[in-house]
Amino acid sequence: MTLRPDSTVSLVAPSMINCQSDQSTPLKLGIMASGSGSNFEAIAQAIADEQLNAQIQVLVYNNPTAKAPIRAANRGVEAVLLNHRDYIHREAFDQQIVKTLQQYDVDWVIMAGWMRLVTPVLIDAFTDRIINIHPSLLPSFKGINAVEQALASGVKITGCTVHLVCLEVDSGPILIQAAVPILPDDTAETLHARIQIQEHRILPQAIALAAQKSNNFRF
Ligand code: GRF
Repeated sequence: MTLRPDSTVSLVAPSMINCQSDQSTPLKLGIMASGSGSNFEAIAQAIADEQLNAQIQVLVYNNPTAKAPIRAANRGVEAVLLNHRDYIHREAFDQQIVKTLQQYDVDWVIMAGWMRLVTPVLIDAFTDRIINIHPSLLPSFKGINAVEQALASGVKITGCTVHLVCLEVDSGPILIQAAVPILPDDTAETLHARIQIQEHRILPQAIALAAQKSNNFRF
């Protein structure tokens, strides 16, 4: 198969990528972000466009300079700053995250650019209900600098992955992936920008898909 430079492939059965999930009551989302929050925005827009039957209960962010809370304020979503530097270890930090998410009555946790390792404290509190987005075609290029890793490796196609979170970093059952060709003159910035277009498309779809799956069977 040959990919045109602007082409992408969603690696999921076409019948499964409708954003609308079966559930009649909106999914109650808690979003965790560390950076610009463009994926937060994509989720909020999908909800506003009635492409995703959900509501964002709260944004949790850990970086005081993150742009995500500005986007939350513009969308009327409450944002809570939990700075990891204020906690003595990761478990104490995650305990406060869990407490906050529970206070806001969150059912599904979306790690949308969350740049901290998580512990069993968080994972066990929301079993099979934590979703992460990663800028590579997992299992390739786990961890930080995934876009740079892909460029350095010489692969011709990379992309993004939405998956359920388990203890091992950037692992767990894959929900949706999208492929993005690497162009000869790509920099990390140009490539990441094209990957993010796909992230914004598949993340809301994957949230709906995860909800559908969890209604039908356990992972
Ligand atoms: C995304 O590329 C995501 O895959 C990675 O961090 C980035 C967050 O982007 N985990 P944004 O803050 O949503 O714009």
